[in-house]
Parts: sequence; C-alpha cells; structure tokens
Amino acid sequence: MALLFISKIDDPGEWLPALRAARPGLDIRVWPNAGAVEEIRWAAAWNPPAGVLARLPNLEAVFSLGAGVDTMIADPGFPRHVPLVRLVDRLLTQGMTEYVLLQVLDRHRDGALFRAAQAEGVWRKQSVRPASSCRVGILGLGVLGRAAGSALMGLGFPVAGWSRGPKDVPGITCHHGPEGLTALLSRSDILVCLLPLTAETRGILARPLFDRLPRGAFLINAARGGHLVEADLLAALEDGRLAGAALDVFPKEPLAAGHPFWTHPRIIVTPHVASLTQPASAAPRIAEGIDRLERGLPLLDVVDRDRGY
Ligand code: NAP
Ligand code: GLV
Repeated sequence: MALLFISKIDDPGEWLPALRAARPGLDIRVWPNAGAVEEIRWAAAWNPPAGVLARLPNLEAVFSLGAGVDTMIADPGFPRHVPLVRLVDRLLTQGMTEYVLLQVLDRHRDGALFRAAQAEGVWRKQSVRPASSCRVGILGLGVLGRAAGSALMGLGFPVAGWSRGPKDVPGITCHHGPEGLTALLSRSDILVCLLPLTAETRGILARPLFDRLPRGAFLINAARGGHLVEADLLAALEDGRLAGAALDVFPKEPLAAGHPFWTHPRIIVTPHVASLTQPASAAPRIAEGIDRLERGLPLLDVVDRDRGY
C-alpha cells in the first residue's frame, strides 16, 4: 500500500516530510520511480503527465496538490472510476484572500497613481474615497470566493458574488446563473474572477462581459488564464471600458518574453502566485483522505467530472 507523489513543480523534499508527519509510516514513492505499480493505492498529484495514472491498476483516489483540477479533468487517460479530490486547505484559502485584498486595496487606494507620482518626484495629494464607494463583484462563490468576499466585506466594501446555483452568504449579495450575471456585472467597480476553468467558464472574461461592467472597472483574474480572452482585454483597456487589470494566471505559463502584458502600463502581472499550496497544512488533508478511505468513510471535496469542478 503506497502513495505515489507526482509533480514536476512541487518539491518532494518539502512534501515527503510533511506527508510522513501527517501519516507516519506511509510508504511514499516519487514518480517516475513508482516501484511495483500494483502497490500504489493513492496518488498525490499536480498535472501528472497524460496516461501515468492509467498505468496504476489498484489506484483508489487521486489527491490534487492544488485547488484547480482543470488540467487533470482534461486528461483523457485519467481513470474515470477513480475519485479525484481537490485541495481545500486553510492556508491556500488565506493566501488567495491576501492576494485579492492586495489587488483590491491597491486599485481602490490608487497605488499605480502614487507609484507613478513617486517615480516623477511629484507630491500628488488627492482625496481618498471610502471603501463603501467601491463595489466589488466576485465570479465564483466557492471556497476561495466566499473567503475573499467576506474579508472585503469586513473592510467595508459592498460585495456581490456569482455562482452556478443559489447561495446564501451573510453580508454578500448573491447572484446565480446566466440571468444573475448581468446584475452582478452592472454594479461591479472591481471584478474578481475565482471561477474554476470548465467548458462553461472558458473565455468568460471577454468583450460581452466587459461591456456589462461600469465604464472604468478594474479586473482581477486569479483563477485560470483560460478564462480570459487576451485580445479583448487589450481592446477594453485601449478604449477605456476597463481602467486596468491585475492578472496572476495566463493561458501559457510562464508568460512569454515580449508578451504585451509585461509592459502594459495598466496591467499588473504576477507569476501564478496568488496562492501557493503549503505542504505543512495541505499534507494533513491528504492523510485525512487516506484515513477516510481506510475507514470506509466517503471522501470529502470529490470533483464532479461532469460539472468540471
Ligand atoms: P470551488 O470551491 O469549486 O468554487 C467554484 C465556484 O465557482 C462555485 O461557487 C461555483 O458555483 C462557481 N461556478 C462554477 N461554474 C460556474 C458557472 N458556470 N457559472 C457560475 N458559477 C460557477 O473553487 P475554489 O476552491 O474557490 O477555487 C476556484 C479556482 O481558483 C480554482 O478552480 C483554481 O482554478 C483557482 N485557483 C487559483 C490559484 C492561484 O494561485 N492563482 C490558487 C488556487 C485556486 P456553485 O457554488 O453553485 O457550484
Ligand atoms: C493553483 O492554481 C491551484 O489551483 O491551487
């Protein structure tokens, strides 16, 4: 009975001690050194190469090392009968809340303007608006969207959110479904995307959506690059429909040298760091999942493959 750790970007040197601390005695193999494949019962994985999981005949569950599972869902070789568990973790949620607060506050308090003024050596004093004047809309009222929304609400920002099904989140105006989207957009001075990337949400951040925002709105995309139609963003910045954007994720990562986003004066680029999985807090979640399987209990946070998240 062994766990196979599969990731090209996560450090086994950090993960293995964390997994062993969470489940002492756990037999852990690090891909590509799987050993006898019939002994592998669980995988802890981030974007495994296509087909790797299909070669594990006794696999009982795959634990994602991150919250977003779009790449694994897209792998046609992913064994359909094996449950895929996405990561829901306190520090991952906190990291995203920090990122959203950072970008919302920077926009609301005119960070770009003051940095430009300092670069010119100009004392550009101007009035400061209260948080209550800046309406934030959040696409996606899941684990991350709800936490970020609640933190913003605590600072006095009027917050509304959008989800697939109806929601009731204290203090947040909740909209859902295609008909709820227009209501959310029409009152969002800052729009934050925290949706999973699915067939329904791919390309949602595009001209038809931008046109329903108040003129001069600001976009924050911390979800997936596939949500954004890049040419539409550049056009909307050009004609003033959008005032700026903070982007953490891109269709092709790393963002290519020479890409227009790098030097655009109204785009903030961060390298997919809005929230990074912390092994010390995430490993116990994986150990808990294995424990539930061993005790015959249902797994938590299992992805619905048909829904795509
Ligand atoms: P989650 O808990 O699964 O929440 C997803 C939310 O999106 C839910 O509220 C869901 O609605 C809503 N949704 C899904 N499809 C929709 C649709 N077609 N129309 C309207 N609403 C829809 O996900 P999460 O844990 O908050 O994570 C969200 C995403 O953040 C991840 O998938 C990942 O891509 C991204 N992420 C990025 C980073 C980073 O560092 N940049 C880090 C972590 C995660 P219902 O509630 O009605 O189902
Ligand atoms: C990071 O992007 C994640 O999905 O956890």
